[in-house]
Amino acid sequence: MSERTTERKQDHVEICLHGDVVFNGKTTGFEQFVFAHDALPELSFSDIDLSTTFLGKAIGAPLMISSMTGGYSEAATLNQRLAEAAERFGIPLGVGSMRQALENSSYRESFAVVRKYAPTIQIFANIGAPEVAKGLKKSDINTMLELLQADGLIVHLNAAQELFQPEGNTDFRHVLDQLAILTANIPVPVIVKEVGCGISASVARRLIEAGVKAIDVAGAGGISWQKVEEIRYTRQFGQERRFSLPALDELLNWGIPTAQCLLDIRALKKESPAFNAIEIIASGGIQCGTDIAKSLALGAQLAASARSLLKALHDSTLEETITSWLNDLRAVMFLTGAATIAELRHKTLITKP
Ligand SMILES: Cc1cc2nc3c(=O)[nH]c(=O)nc-3n(C[C@H](O)[C@H](O)[C@H](O)COP(=O)(O)O)c2cc1C
Repeated sequence: MSERTTERKQDHVEICLHGDVVFNGKTTGFEQFVFAHDALPELSFSDIDLSTTFLGKAIGAPLMISSMTGGYSEAATLNQRLAEAAERFGIPLGVGSMRQALENSSYRESFAVVRKYAPTIQIFANIGAPEVAKGLKKSDINTMLELLQADGLIVHLNAAQELFQPEGNTDFRHVLDQLAILTANIPVPVIVKEVGCGISASVARRLIEAGVKAIDVAGAGGISWQKVEEIRYTRQFGQERRFSLPALDELLNWGIPTAQCLLDIRALKKESPAFNAIEIIASGGIQCGTDIAKSLALGAQLAASARSLLKALHDSTLEETITSWLNDLRAVMFLTGAATIAELRHKTLITKP
């Protein structure tokens, strides 16, 4: 079982780097918005401050490196380099699913390495909804949190991915009940994320009522995990089809665009102080600092990225990429007259005609 998990995590990195895995005919929706220009910004570019907070802690910029990997030997190197970059910029970092670390102690170091190279930032453990649905043991929770000295646990909802995965677990009963038990018994905040199909307002409502403290929408428009798993399925079983051809295209590109998730959840937040207290992470197809800026103006506390940063890491340009995204963000702040991230959140986005 755990060898299969190891291979799967390796396949994911390789396919995400080299496969055709982006949504076809569906975008994040960020391109539909532009900021209103401020010809009188009344601030000095050099005074722009990107620092903000996430779950009550100060962070260097409103960006997070999304959960990706761990659980095999090369993952230690990837995680080390992601951790070094996150530490340098003072931004949060999620690790990949820790199921492997629970099944087999051999590769726990590939997770532990993160805290070694990122002693001061927020680091988040990660586990899938199917594991949560079975009921996480207290010892499992402690193992994950202790390995990373984690600041929180991220639970990923990935029904479409599991559906397409050759060895996927499609039993999603009891996830919500078990989440409520988890949030009541864990000493750190629980964050729930999708992996590319997005979180609607009605799902967000149920998650908040179950005690979740932050939601990462991980919407459509970046990577399609259905496509990643379809590539793995085809490698394993040839062209054998599980779905009809006309439906396949729709299923491979299934999901709510990232900007749409943010708009829907922003409306939900107006309903009550409890809903308003939830912190939203914008992810799914983030490609630059203007996407980050638009995310914040659409109600997110910060934006997060996985595949674009993995590609940058692979090209040895991770730190340059993050630097350029933060420069994009500063440029938008200058041109909208926002000296701080708090001010940027209130700037006007116009829908393109
Ligand atoms: C190689 C790779 C592995 C991933 N593994 C996980 C994982 O183990 N757990 C998880 O919650 N998300 C995982 N993700 C999903 C990302 O965290 C993210 O939600 C998704 O890729 C959408 O963001 P993006 O468009 O910026 O890539 C992975 C992403 C990549 C690229």
